[in-house]
Amino acid sequence: MIGRLHAQTIRALAPRAELAVVVDRLAERATALGSEFGVDAETDLAAVFTRADIDAVTICIPSGGHADAAVPALEHGKHVIIEKPIDVTLAAARRIRDAEAASAATVMVVSQHRYERASQVVHAAARGGRFGRITSGSAHMPWWRSQAYYDSAGWRGTRALDGGGAVMNQGHHFVDLLVWFLGEPVEVFAWTDRLVHERIEVEDVAGATIRFADGTLGVVQATTAAYPGLGTTVGVYGDRGSAVIEDDRLVYFHAAKRDDPPAYDYGAPGDVNQATEVLPGVRDAQGAPAIAGLAATSHTAQFIDFLDAVEEGRPPLVTTEEAIRTLAVICAMYESARTSAPVRLDDL
Ligand SMILES: NC(=O)c1ccc[n+]([C@@H]2O[C@H](COP(=O)([O-])OP(=O)(O)OC[C@H]3O[C@@H](n4cnc5c(N)ncnc54)[C@H](O)[C@@H]3O)[C@@H](O)[C@H]2O)c1
Repeated sequence: MIGRLHAQTIRALAPRAELAVVVDRLAERATALGSEFGVDAETDLAAVFTRADIDAVTICIPSGGHADAAVPALEHGKHVIIEKPIDVTLAAARRIRDAEAASAATVMVVSQHRYERASQVVHAAARGGRFGRITSGSAHMPWWRSQAYYDSAGWRGTRALDGGGAVMNQGHHFVDLLVWFLGEPVEVFAWTDRLVHERIEVEDVAGATIRFADGTLGVVQATTAAYPGLGTTVGVYGDRGSAVIEDDRLVYFHAAKRDDPPAYDYGAPGDVNQATEVLPGVRDAQGAPAIAGLAATSHTAQFIDFLDAVEEGRPPLVTTEEAIRTLAVICAMYESARTSAPVRLDDL
């Protein structure tokens, strides 16, 4: 599914990037994608590692196979893009980190929602202190995935290859945003369950709280059992301002101005939503980052960051460390749900 989007994204970045070869272990899929894009097709990743004309590999296989693909790519000196999650266990993710450290290559993990304009504005405001003392944040993902979706590929809904359900697969994006906005997560408490779906080993509903180093509390609700599937909301709340993103759109933003009164007793009166001020065109195609002359998807914006990072010798926005932090929060949720106890990230 996502591999085709990566191929399209690389195409859109020509001449800075050139799609050279596609790999799928199922020959008919490799051949179909290869002929669609007019490039070589292989069934074994190892075949591309030894090719000197290949500088970078982007990994879009089931999540539990990411480290097994990324580590040999790094050992052969290739730069690597990895779809989210980095892998499904911290041990596997750390193998990638260690292989990256032993190489001269760059690794970037996909988290395309971070590149949306709304996310960038909220991150800058939150980490720049514009909301004052941040007290809490939330991520709500009431989505729907049918049983047919889970049945559509053997790896979906399995512990070994999907690594988890509503949180690890779909909710990963919004846990990542929440953590990026709120700071350093230290402890998690969660409940998870499988209430609707069959023939899956993972949760289709989860509720969790995350405690951050400065005391900020994050709340996560994620489900793939909310029919017909509603939008995602990520909120950040502080004592001088707050923001809410719905489906990558900034629907609410307020940051107290320096000369505003310290605070109104029952909240500021009137319409104090500054969303259209901080992000003009708020009702328009705000989700699409403005990149002149390109198909402006957020994947494209992230791939441009990757190319710039490699060329400039700097880390991209979503490094292995950043991806490991988000994965650790999700693993802590599963460990907490399994043990009915809070889990400290340092203990994982
Ligand atoms: N960023 C996003 O929004 C987003 C969206 C969808 C999927 N993803 C991620 O992308 C990854 C793939 O998801 P998908 O939905 O595209 O899966 P998919 O099942 O549609 O495609 C995976 C493909 O990988 C092939 N494959 C499996 N093991 C292989 C191996 N060792 N070598 C070569 N090919 C192999 C399979 O034959 C299959 O064609 C997952 O990690 C998923 O979490 C991210």
